[in-house]
Amino acid sequence: MHFLVTGHTGFKGAWLIVLLKSLGHEVSGLALDPEKKSLFNMGELSKLLEFDYRQDIRDLGPLQKAVLNCNPDVIIHMAAQSLVLTSYEKPFETFEINVNGTLNILEAARKSNNLKALLVVTTDKVYKNLGTLKRYKESDELGGDDPYSASKAMADILTQSWQKSVSTQPIGIARAGNVIGGGDYSDNRIIPNLIDDISKGLNPSLRHPESVRPWQNVLDCLNGYIFAVNSLIENQKPDIWNFGPDDEVCRTVSELTDFVIKQTNPSLIWKKSEVNLPEESKLLLIDSSKARNELNWREKYDFESSVMSTVNWYKKSDQISTIEYMQNEISNFNLL
Ligand SMILES: NC(=O)c1ccc[n+]([C@@H]2O[C@H](COP(=O)([O-])OP(=O)(O)OC[C@H]3O[C@@H](n4cnc5c(N)ncnc54)[C@H](O)[C@@H]3O)[C@@H](O)[C@H]2O)c1
Repeated sequence: MHFLVTGHTGFKGAWLIVLLKSLGHEVSGLALDPEKKSLFNMGELSKLLEFDYRQDIRDLGPLQKAVLNCNPDVIIHMAAQSLVLTSYEKPFETFEINVNGTLNILEAARKSNNLKALLVVTTDKVYKNLGTLKRYKESDELGGDDPYSASKAMADILTQSWQKSVSTQPIGIARAGNVIGGGDYSDNRIIPNLIDDISKGLNPSLRHPESVRPWQNVLDCLNGYIFAVNSLIENQKPDIWNFGPDDEVCRTVSELTDFVIKQTNPSLIWKKSEVNLPEESKLLLIDSSKARNELNWREKYDFESSVMSTVNWYKKSDQISTIEYMQNEISNFNLL
């Protein structure tokens, strides 16, 4: 099958290219240029692609042309302004990319004759966060205070409306939480920041040590997207799924930090950041029983193995080529 991945130059996109290739699929990508230090560049992943479009999703005309030219069987739409803190700095751009960009993808997909399924990736942050221990189900109310969460909730509602009133193709929505994994060099992401501090012998400083997050491994999350696509193709009907880990991998930022410090440089002690930063939701848990029961999806990593595979990346990935490292990680994952 031929997959078009939007956002393929980003963190999840890079892993998804290699995962789909390991399953024997053809893959094309559409996104902006990768960051200089990115998994995509380090792995020279362009070489694995049928088409590698560098196209802004806000620009409908050229986007439509690219999708028609590519003629994919499946589109997985992940291109986004994906960072909460950046969304405070660039709210207009965040809404433009995440909402208008998604609208353009929906319209381009509608005109793509061969398309068998479209999966739109949103986030667990689309749920109206009540700040309680409640696990959000797919049917729960959406909301979002910061521009990232609100724009993703808008993209989610837009996709649901499109499913119901416009598209005849099966469109799915995948809502997943924070993922971790090797090769994430984005600003303000917890593990890269931690490793950076630790490698310099600095005591890590944490923005929100008390926040509980589901520390899902990127491969478990992406595997969920593939289960979702298979279901869309098989059943030819739209659907929405959460892909979050069970309680076992839900830990606070401080628990994660303690574990990473223990594995790397036990002499360090984390401290709370004194910088006054914008609010982020403290507690966010999703209920993934629907994906488990209906798709038979399961995560393969537990908390320790997920974190260790991530930490090992930063410790060992310079010993072999990036693509080889990724392929080994994925072979091991596929065997679990
Ligand atoms: N990483 C996480 O922890 C996480 C958690 C929940 C949801 N998500 C969602 O998963 C998806 C992928 O996340 P990621 O971590 O790989 O993000 P990332 O920031 O690493 O990559 C974003 C990708 O989107 C592309 N992009 C950004 N603006 C664009 C534009 N205007 N036109 C075309 N392409 C554009 C970038 O070029 C890049 O390829 C996003 O939709 C994100 O919101 C990520």
